[in-house]
Amino acid sequence: MSQHQILSVEPKPFVKWAGGKRQLISAIDRHIPSEFGTYFEPFLGGGAVLFHLLSKNPAVKCKVSDLNSDLVLAYVTIRDKVDELISALENHAKNYHKNPDSYYYGIRESEPTGQIAKVSRLLFLNRTCFNGLYRVNSKGKFNVPLGRYSNPNIVNEENLVAVSHVLQSKRIQISCRDFTAVLSDAKKGDFVYFDPPYQPVSDTANFTSYTNRDFTYSDLEKLVKVSEKLSDKGCKVLHSNSNSKEVKDLFSKGWKVIEVAANRAINSDSAKRTGQKELLIKNY
Ligand SMILES: C[S@@+](CC[C@H](N)C(=O)[O-])C[C@H]1O[C@@H](n2cnc3c(N)ncnc32)[C@H](O)[C@@H]1O
Repeated sequence: MSQHQILSVEPKPFVKWAGGKRQLISAIDRHIPSEFGTYFEPFLGGGAVLFHLLSKNPAVKCKVSDLNSDLVLAYVTIRDKVDELISALENHAKNYHKNPDSYYYGIRESEPTGQIAKVSRLLFLNRTCFNGLYRVNSKGKFNVPLGRYSNPNIVNEENLVAVSHVLQSKRIQISCRDFTAVLSDAKKGDFVYFDPPYQPVSDTANFTSYTNRDFTYSDLEKLVKVSEKLSDKGCKVLHSNSNSKEVKDLFSKGWKVIEVAANRAINSDSAKRTGQKELLIKNY
């Protein structure tokens, strides 16, 4: 048991993640099936939907994954080594407050290899970078500038401890893998929620790179094929995606397409932050 186990707050996403679903949770919640076997979330990101489900039912069986290995390492480290991680974050916070600018860029340029150093760097940068997002360039290097925060909450100990506690359940499996792997383990009656990187709504829409490999139109076609196979197996499948013609066309046969209002916090163009719609697509 963690020495930091001081109180129990409801666990929430420990990173701000582009495309995070916290603002859409109540819309998504209305479409979560009342009964299912195992919950699969193959594009886990910050895990807003996972943490929401766990808050409703801590005993739910989950298999969650993401292709971003740094992110998956963060989940595993919070689960297994939260005390060491908190100490490392406390150290980052102390140094940051002495000289935010030079400390931020020094850490951004560093390439640590140890588990705690790598994960504490990811969480530190996520708390202090502009807009709190994760974005890498084609070489896989984190490239977001310093944000303007007077007192960022770099450690957030209570939430890390709560997340660590909930992830220690033997019913939750976390892995780093491509979304297609879900086909080999989801069975009849299981529930799969797909929240892939969104198709751009226009050619000029800004695009977020979560890994050094972009999610292309052909990945989306593959995702539709995987979803159809899951449907044939008897899985309940729910998707989030952008309100784009490509998405609507690909999901035209046998899928229910629902428009929901989105209020994206991460969008470099503030005029685009309001009045947008997103899609929920399901087979049940
Ligand atoms: C829109 S985000 C998910 C956001 C998440 N629902 C949340 O609330 O934070 C998409 C995620 O898909 C991951 N990803 C990108 N390509 C992938 C692939 N081929 N297989 C699995 N995950 C992938 C990215 O690393 C990113 O975390």
